[in-house]
Amino acid sequence: VNRNVRPDQLGWSGSELEMQRFTVVFEYPVAFTRGVFDHANRCLIDALRRREPLRRHRAAVVVDAGVADHWPRLTDAIQSYAAAHASHLELAAPPLVIPGGECCKNDTDRLSQLHAWLRNAAVDRQSFLIAIGGGALLDLAGFAAATAHRGVRLIRLPTTVLAQNDAGLGVKNGVNAFGLKNFLGTFAPPFAVVVDFDFLATLDSRDHRAGLGEAVKVAAIRDGDFFCWLEAQAEALAAFAPEAMEVAIRRCAALHLAQICQGGDPFEGGSARPLDFGHWAAHKLEILTGHALRHGEAVAIGMALDGRYSADIGLLSAAAAERLHRLLQRLGFRLWHEALDLREADGRRRVVAGIEEFREHLGGELSVTLLAELGRGVEVDIIETAAMERALAWLKRSEPPQ
Ligand SMILES: NC(=O)c1ccc[n+]([C@@H]2O[C@H](COP(=O)([O-])OP(=O)(O)OC[C@H]3O[C@@H](n4cnc5c(N)ncnc54)[C@H](O)[C@@H]3O)[C@@H](O)[C@H]2O)c1
Ligand SMILES: [Zn+2]
Repeated sequence: VNRNVRPDQLGWSGSELEMQRFTVVFEYPVAFTRGVFDHANRCLIDALRRREPLRRHRAAVVVDAGVADHWPRLTDAIQSYAAAHASHLELAAPPLVIPGGECCKNDTDRLSQLHAWLRNAAVDRQSFLIAIGGGALLDLAGFAAATAHRGVRLIRLPTTVLAQNDAGLGVKNGVNAFGLKNFLGTFAPPFAVVVDFDFLATLDSRDHRAGLGEAVKVAAIRDGDFFCWLEAQAEALAAFAPEAMEVAIRRCAALHLAQICQGGDPFEGGSARPLDFGHWAAHKLEILTGHALRHGEAVAIGMALDGRYSADIGLLSAAAAERLHRLLQRLGFRLWHEALDLREADGRRRVVAGIEEFREHLGGELSVTLLAELGRGVEVDIIETAAMERALAWLKRSEPPQ
């Protein structure tokens, strides 16, 4: 290969350049299990050993306090598991329990604490950070892991529905800074992900349901059969029946993983965010309600709105928009929030400013995912305010009286 190219061949001005080009293949297993710290369960050990099967691996474990509170024997179980598998696993320090939830991403001291702890435990580039928790804790731990020594190996054990079907599976991490969500963060694929469904037993009903919002989302944009399955299982899912939840999480996880590796833009260089259906309104609603709405709850409203908008502009059938709305209702989502009615002094609806903010978030060009069918999303680059107003009015009318 001749790497010396004349600049004019590339339409460059300048005298001469060398084109640097290489490819790195990323690969990580996502395992689904129960009882991850039962001594007989080898998922975690197999994940640690997957590149160097004979070595004794050092690992530091950080645990979301929301999980540890509900599973008081968890840290003992981790230590006992390590002792039982001592030929392959050595804990670099006792498990560290820190508060999870969004506040852990808002606090830069927390990040420094994690870095200092990794330093003191002599965690090096061949060692592991194992993070157990919800999406927020995983984002924080992932950023700490990616930036310590320019990257120590990360194994994620997601413990919420959202983390198991979305946040814990992908290639991103981040913390909030300077008033912006995920302002500091990297793209850093994990070494492995181990999903243990048992953790879901202690989730509260809002967190349970919120995670289902993302399942409806991927079904609506990617998989019509999955959408029909969600309709058929709506009662079981609304009751959080474990078997139905497990199937929904696995299907949703598979669709997310496929999007990352086959979508053509794993590190989000372009403007399109096909997985962000319903998200422009959701992001704005989360802010307008001061995060009183969970992300998934806001996404449910955003999807019902953009579904109806898709029908209003003739992209989707009205019947399909009704089906989407009905499914979300049956799963227990409330699809209207008073914050949708908030106005600026000049009378403009505040939520609609979310479209412009979403454009900025994408980096310049607006790209909003709408629906052409249940199971097929399409990108548009313009949102018509009058049609959006009609969709909002429809959404309000369709909300049953409390
Ligand atoms: N990196 C990504 O690709 C990505 C994608 C989507 C979302 N996210 C991020 O994920 C975060 C939201 O994650 P989330 O929905 O998992 O919520 P969360 O992490 O905020 O957790 C919600 C609450 O549940 C508690 N908790 C966690 N597991 C529990 C369990 N098993 N039992 C009882 N309580 C438990 C936590 O302590 C917390 O109080 C946001 O910060 C979002 O930005 C990241
Ligand atoms: Zn989302």
